[in-house]
Amino acid sequence: MTDLAQGLRLRDDFPGVGDWHYLDSAATAQKPQAVIDAIARAYGADYATVHRGVYERSANMTLAYEAARRKVAQFIGAASDAEIIYVRGATEGINLAAHSWASTQLKAGDRILLSTLEHHSNIVPWQIVAEQVGAQIDVVPLTQDGCIDLDAMAAMITSAHKMVALAHVSNVLGSVLDCRRAADIAHGVGAKILIDGCQAVPRIAVDMAALDCDFYVFSAHKLYGPTGIGVLWARQELLEMMPPYQGGGSMIDKVTFEKTSYAPAPTRFEAGTPHITGVVGLSAAIDYVQAIGLDAIHAHECALVAKARSALEDLNSVRLFGPDTSAGILSFELQGVHPHDVGTILDEGGVAIRAGHHCAQPLMNHLGVDATARASFGLYSDDSDVDALVQGLARVRKIFG
Ligand code: ALA
Repeated sequence: MTDLAQGLRLRDDFPGVGDWHYLDSAATAQKPQAVIDAIARAYGADYATVHRGVYERSANMTLAYEAARRKVAQFIGAASDAEIIYVRGATEGINLAAHSWASTQLKAGDRILLSTLEHHSNIVPWQIVAEQVGAQIDVVPLTQDGCIDLDAMAAMITSAHKMVALAHVSNVLGSVLDCRRAADIAHGVGAKILIDGCQAVPRIAVDMAALDCDFYVFSAHKLYGPTGIGVLWARQELLEMMPPYQGGGSMIDKVTFEKTSYAPAPTRFEAGTPHITGVVGLSAAIDYVQAIGLDAIHAHECALVAKARSALEDLNSVRLFGPDTSAGILSFELQGVHPHDVGTILDEGGVAIRAGHHCAQPLMNHLGVDATARASFGLYSDDSDVDALVQGLARVRKIFG
C-alpha cells in the first residue's frame, strides 16, 4: 500500500498547502519541500552555468543538467534523451513544433485537426501557422459526456490533414484521450500527431512508445516542479528535419558572417543560457512523484473526483461537466451564480478553485456558458478538501438564495 492509498497526509510535504483547501492544481501544482530544497541548492552552493565553464562546479552542474534529461526521457518512455528539448513550458513546446515543424512542412491546402476542448495554447499556434502557409483548421467534436470523439475524428480525417493536435487530459473537463487510438487514426492518413500532456503527466503514467504519438509536451510547474521549464518530446527523425526555433549561443556548430551551421538536437533548440535551476527542480519533482507512483496518484485523484461528483450531484441546481471518469479535474456551474462569485465566496472559506474560461473559450461556447467553476486535485488533496468544497457551495447557495 502506498501512502496515498492509506490516506496519509502527503500534504505535510508541501509548505504551500497546510490547512488550505487548494483545488487549483490544474493551474499550477504546489511544490514539495524536496523540490524547493533542490532549487535552493542549485541557486546556492551548487550554482554555476552549464556547457560553458571549464571549472569543476560548472562541469558538475552540466552533469546534473544532462542527467535530468535522461531522467525525463526515462520518465516518459522516450527512446533517447536526445529527443528531450527543454522549453519554457508546454506553450513554448507547441509553438516550437508549430513554428519549426509545421510551418516548414505544411503548404497551402493542407489541413490541421484540433478538437473542441483544446486549450488556447493548442489552438492559437496552429492558427498562426495556418495563416502563414495557407492551411485550414478542422475541429473534432466531443461526445455527449465531453470526450474527444474519436469515431467522429476517424470519419472526418483525410489525407489533406498533416497535423493533429489534441489534449491528453482536458484542463476543463478532466476527460482522458485514448492517445494510442488517436495516433493510429492520424497515422492512418499520414498525419503527425502532437499531444498536449500538461494535465496528463502529473496524473497518469505516460509512455511515448505505447502512445505512439510524434510530439508530446508538458510543463514542470503542473508536475510539482518549478515554473518556466517544460519539455517538448519529439521523434528523433522529426527533430532532425526541424530548423532552429531561436538563434543564439549554444545552438550552433560553427558561426561565420557568411554562414552558420547548427548543433544537432536537442542542443539546436536550446539557444542561450538555459533555465538551469528549473531543470534541477524538474528532476527533483520527477523523483518525488516516482517515489509515490503515478498509478497511485491517478487512483487517488480519480477517487476524489468521484466523491466530489457524487456530493455535488446531491446539491440543488449544480450542473456538472465532463465524464464520470474524469482525471483529477471537475468543472461545474451553480445555476444562477456566476463562477467568479462562487470562487470568491469559496475563498472566504479557505477553498481555492479556478473560475473563468480556463483558456478554452471554444469549449465554453460549446457548453453554452461564459465560464465554469473548476476544482482540480493534486496528490496532496484529500477528503477534507472535498468536504470543504461542498460546505462552501452550500454557503454560496444560502447567500444567493
Ligand atoms: N492551463 C492552466 C489551467 O487550466 C493554466 O488552469
